[in-house]
Amino acid sequence: MEKKNCLILALDVTDRENALRIANEVSEYVDSIKVGYPLVLGEGLGIVKELAELAPVIADFKVADIPNTDRLICEHVFNAGADAIITHGFTGRDSLDSCVKVAEEYDRDVYVVTEMSHPGGVEFFRPVAETIAQMAADAGATGVVAPATRPERVRDIRKIIGDDLHIISPGVGAQGGSAADVINAGADWVIVGRSIYNSDSPADAAMRICNEMKC
Ligand code: XMP
Repeated sequence: MEKKNCLILALDVTDRENALRIANEVSEYVDSIKVGYPLVLGEGLGIVKELAELAPVIADFKVADIPNTDRLICEHVFNAGADAIITHGFTGRDSLDSCVKVAEEYDRDVYVVTEMSHPGGVEFFRPVAETIAQMAADAGATGVVAPATRPERVRDIRKIIGDDLHIISPGVGAQGGSAADVINAGADWVIVGRSIYNSDSPADAAMRICNEMKC
């Protein structure tokens, strides 16, 4: 993904019409559009191809299965036109290796969840976040997902992965995180959903976040 605005739109609306309207309105401000279960379960995987005409698509399926099933999921997602996939790391190195291998075959990206952004994200992830981050680096993942709600954790994770891996960071706005703070802490991109797609003017909301980051 090319870094222009440091902003990724989390497009968690559930219908095609709204998704395409919002994506069109904000496309000049975002470097990528993240889609997940809400939109894909609502409209089917075909929505990925339509959105990919506007910006590279990250498929946030938080893949967490045995290596063979992970492989099948990644193949489907990349064949559908996604540029990247988000996978969990707690399933172990062999599962992650499977995703990375498919991504290499397709020349696509893999981002690994470290510690999640919501309050419960510390309950089980906190003790293993650094280990997962190190595994992501060792496995050759493109980057990791780390919480904008806890910039200090982004700083910790950046120390572990070094400068080669990217950090994409959800939790800005609706979850209380600050875009500027998490970019200063070492994130490459912020991921923003509700603060943009629930706004009366998604384009203005996206522009404001870009201005705040001055990335
Ligand atoms: P909001 O509306 O809170 O949307 O701006 C955030 C988006 O990011 C997803 N999300 C996460 N994804 N690790 C992830 O891989 C996380 O820690 C995490 N926290 C939030 C969320 O599903 C939504 O699409």
